[in-house]
Amino acid sequence: MKSPLLHELCEPFRGLLGTWKGRGEGHYPSIESFGYVEESTFSHVGKPFISYVQKTRDSVTDAPLHSESGYIRPQEEYLAELVLAQPSGIVEMHKGSIESSKNACVIYFESIDVRVTPSAKEVTQVSRLIKIEGDTLSYDVSMAAVGEPFQHHLKALLKRQA
Ligand code: HEM
Repeated sequence: MKSPLLHELCEPFRGLLGTWKGRGEGHYPSIESFGYVEESTFSHVGKPFISYVQKTRDSVTDAPLHSESGYIRPQEEYLAELVLAQPSGIVEMHKGSIESSKNACVIYFESIDVRVTPSAKEVTQVSRLIKIEGDTLSYDVSMAAVGEPFQHHLKALLKRQA
């Protein structure tokens, strides 16, 4: 099948497309700190959204850890929305923006709403900062959860896969 042309609204996000693998670490006052390995894929079908699928494993035991999937919805003037769901019952809605140049970009999303299922842990605010330089992607995730104030939860460094 012929691969579709990237929708013009997705053009600033071109550098995200593909599969990325690497390592991250997480912490929060209410839990033990942990390390993880991650694989994330960003793809498109020619429509004005980018699909995102992520999975992680414990870097010590190799047991499956967190996973999530969602869609970036680019808007005019380098703005974007993000909708994302986690199997832990957390659903995030974000507004954000992208600054991009030829080989680098910075994407910042701030939640406008976070909803959780009745049995999920409480999460009230999330931010996601993604930086790409060439074939390296790094990100930071912060959140307000389980009664704790808004603070850092995760950082990771991923490499683009051929
Ligand atoms: C790479 C992605 C992530 C990994 C590897 C990860 C991993 C973990 C681990 C290992 C724990 C402790 C054990 C557990 O409760 O399952 C945890 C707790 C938690 N995580 Fe994450 N997490 C990720 C992303 C997120 C995101 C994006 C959110 C929310 C938007 C989130 C919200 C939470 C909450 C609410 C807890 C429970 C804290 C508590 O019970 O005190 N996590 N995470």
